Amino acid sequence: MASRVEANQRIARLSAHLYPSNLQMEDSSGMRRANCRAKGGAPGFKVAILGAAGGIGQPLAMLMKMNPLVSVLHLYDVVNAPGVTADISHMDTGAVVRGFLGQPQLDNALTGMDLVIIPAGVPRKPGMTRDDLFKINAGIVRTLCEGIARCCPKAIVNLISNPVNSTVPIAAEVFKKAGTYDPKRLLGVTMLDVVRANTFVAEVLGLDPREVDVPVVGGHSGVTILPLLSQVKPPCSFTQEETEYLTDRIQNGGTEVVEAKAGAGSATLSMAYAAVKFADACLRGLRGDAGIVECSFVASQVTELPFFATKVRLGRNGAEEIYQLGPLNEYERAGLEKAKRELAGSIQKGISFISK
Ligand code: 2OP
Repeated sequence: MASRVEANQRIARLSAHLYPSNLQMEDSSGMRRANCRAKGGAPGFKVAILGAAGGIGQPLAMLMKMNPLVSVLHLYDVVNAPGVTADISHMDTGAVVRGFLGQPQLDNALTGMDLVIIPAGVPRKPGMTRDDLFKINAGIVRTLCEGIARCCPKAIVNLISNPVNSTVPIAAEVFKKAGTYDPKRLLGVTMLDVVRANTFVAEVLGLDPREVDVPVVGGHSGVTILPLLSQVKPPCSFTQEETEYLTDRIQNGGTEVVEAKAGAGSATLSMAYAAVKFADACLRGLRGDAGIVECSFVASQVTELPFFATKVRLGRNGAEEIYQLGPLNEYERAGLEKAKRELAGSIQKGISFISK
């Protein structure tokens, strides 16, 4: 009878060519991971996280590994991807995790993906606006989107990298240049504004935040973040003082975290939570579930601007329906005008970055 060592060597020879070279490591027992009996992931979606080793990327990767709709999770970053991959891959949930390090591995990270989530880029420090990140993050988003156009042009893209008001137009221009642009599949993540709005409104009303639904429209920066407090569910009313307090706190929620972190970055944990909530909605839409409606910054004809965040219905093709704003009160109409003025500049800045 062949010894265990011989048997393992035989299996290793037979299977070596079947497994792609990735960041999975051998253990010390002599039994290679490639020799295990696992046949690969359970049925589900293939998801890539670009920027998976960063402040948002790590908790986002952990939460996506816990999502039962995910069968394969690709973690890409330019640093520390092996460590995060090893760590997350030990979680006993269904998704198979693979790591990809550096630009030469970007195409492998993206090939075959159904959903790509992009938190890559640098975060804000106190005193910075999201727009101050443009110089660095614009180039990063361009490179990553060129990879998506090459390797998974049909994937749904969830873009988190700031300034979202400009990076979504950048991504659109990259995809147009590559001839792969489908506006329904490109979604700017504004879910954190909704999450914050639900939390702060629930606090004021003395409700459970899980029972509260606040539509937040416009964009994802300062005055472009426009909570529609007149459309809160369950129906309720606010005093002028409450309206001003809530609008200000929701618009500056990101800055509140940046200042509290005092130089150590911006929101990562709540951002990851919100991103996963949104990604899960996208996956349920891809699966064909009915009635999945969330706010997102998308190509839009709701206003005269080419991009705008509103409620959208998520389906097999991404944002399949874009909802109108609904009735606004006077305070919200004034806010909308301010939001549009700032958004117009941010959108143009993104478009010019690619088309110049
Ligand atoms: C925020 O709103 C990070 O942009 C993110 O805090």
